[in-house]
Amino acid sequence: MKADYVDSDIALMFDQLARARRSTRGFLPRPVEQGIIEQIFETAAWAPSNCNTQPWQSHVVSGAMRDRLSRIFMETIGTGKHTLDFPYEAKYDGIYRRRQVDVGLLLYRALGVTREDRDGKRRAFLRNLEFFDAPHVVFILMPDWCGIREACDVGMYAQNLMLAMRARGVASCPQTILGYDAESVRRELNIDANMKLLFGISFGYEDNNLPENRIVPDRAAIDELVHFHS
Ligand SMILES: Cc1cc2nc3c(=O)[nH]c(=O)nc-3n(C[C@H](O)[C@H](O)[C@H](O)COP(=O)(O)O)c2cc1C
Repeated sequence: MKADYVDSDIALMFDQLARARRSTRGFLPRPVEQGIIEQIFETAAWAPSNCNTQPWQSHVVSGAMRDRLSRIFMETIGTGKHTLDFPYEAKYDGIYRRRQVDVGLLLYRALGVTREDRDGKRRAFLRNLEFFDAPHVVFILMPDWCGIREACDVGMYAQNLMLAMRARGVASCPQTILGYDAESVRRELNIDANMKLLFGISFGYEDNNLPENRIVPDRAAIDELVHFHS
């Protein structure tokens, strides 16, 4: 069906916005203004969800608490002494493994880390726990009654968040690894035990001088991903 009306300016802007969002792995220390952060979270809340249940909860962490959590993660996630609410058991195969390897190589090449450089790889991993120097991190949780369908709702919310950030010049990095020490996050932020941690998103202003921020992981061609039926 042909759309009666297409606002081509909005379409163009949205396409540019969606393509301009990147996982950023190096931030400036400059904090994002509180008013801008609030706008971002207000817009993100317009994500769709099953029966409009809006099962997401965000905990935005900055300042001394941000530093404290980073230190804790270094002692827990950095050494394997952590607890995950949702196990990460992805054993990628075939084309999925290929894509995983490709993006890893892209990142390591930008960082100057070679295949044998174990220390370099470890250092790259630990940057996650420093939130890549971002001044803010948001932890995304959902109640324990949620299943995979509600987790999809939360994913849509998270993408809204990152696009609302990008539209305001705020960069982000979604990080599964920030969901690895759920107990510490709940304890430090005083979060109820029935709220389960999915992941975190570091955010702030991008450091444009870093080579790791210039990588552009490619995407599969549309005919590999989309099947049209009639
Ligand atoms: C839910 C989720 C978790 C992710 N976890 C991590 C992570 O722990 N560390 C990291 O550096 N990147 C992480 N990424 C970023 C992906 O590597 C990235 O999205 C992918 O390579 C595509 O690159 P782009 O986001 O720049 O388009 C994660 C992405 C998503 C969606």
